[in-house]
Amino acid sequence: MDLFDALKSRRSIRRYKTDPVDDNQIQAILEAGRWAPSWANTQCWRFIVVRDTNVKTQLADTMMKVKLPDREILNPAFNAVNTAPVVIAVCAQIGIAGAVHGPAGAKVEYSTDKGDCFMFDTALAVENMLLAAHGQGLGTVIVGAFDAAKAEKVLNVPQGYRMVVFFPVGVPEGPGKAPPRKELTEIAYKDKFG
Ligand SMILES: Cc1cc2nc3c(=O)[nH]c(=O)nc-3n(C[C@H](O)[C@H](O)[C@H](O)COP(=O)(O)O)c2cc1C
Repeated sequence: MDLFDALKSRRSIRRYKTDPVDDNQIQAILEAGRWAPSWANTQCWRFIVVRDTNVKTQLADTMMKVKLPDREILNPAFNAVNTAPVVIAVCAQIGIAGAVHGPAGAKVEYSTDKGDCFMFDTALAVENMLLAAHGQGLGTVIVGAFDAAKAEKVLNVPQGYRMVVFFPVGVPEGPGKAPPRKELTEIAYKDKFG
């Protein structure tokens, strides 16, 4: 698949067929994540491949309701996490992305006023993985609305690491519908902002 076609045709998929996803397909997805850029090549990300139904159910139970202006709804990806054959959880080591390397045990200092870049670096790995899944005909949807502390307990994430997102992987039941994007004229400028 052409790169630009892949970028534009990837969609969040929330309904999957019962078809299995094999280990080679998952390996290719992880490999794509591994090659993402990261702050000073610190690679703070860690990926947990969940196939166990019980663990998937426990992860789904950490998902939060989503607040709309007028009401709360069940997280729209809830069933996807429960039914997909695989869920990939992404967590990150804290205190290395964006950090100035001081002596071991010293208080972490960050290079910029943006602090720890773990969210940024893991997001790059996640997008690579979503595209690698899409390139193999698989669907995914990022889940960000969940209780990270609860999910960390479910997955035995050790101290010094934080859960960032998780995403189900499965064979799409059908094509996703593209939510509209802002026009480039609204978001891209020449020389200076605005
Ligand atoms: C950080 C982040 C968190 C997200 N969390 C959720 C979520 O909890 N549940 C969900 O159904 N979709 C979630 N999404 C998916 C977005 O709703 C989706 O990417 C967006 O509507 C654009 O649709 P597309 O992915 O099909 O282009 C999340 C996306 C991002 C980037």
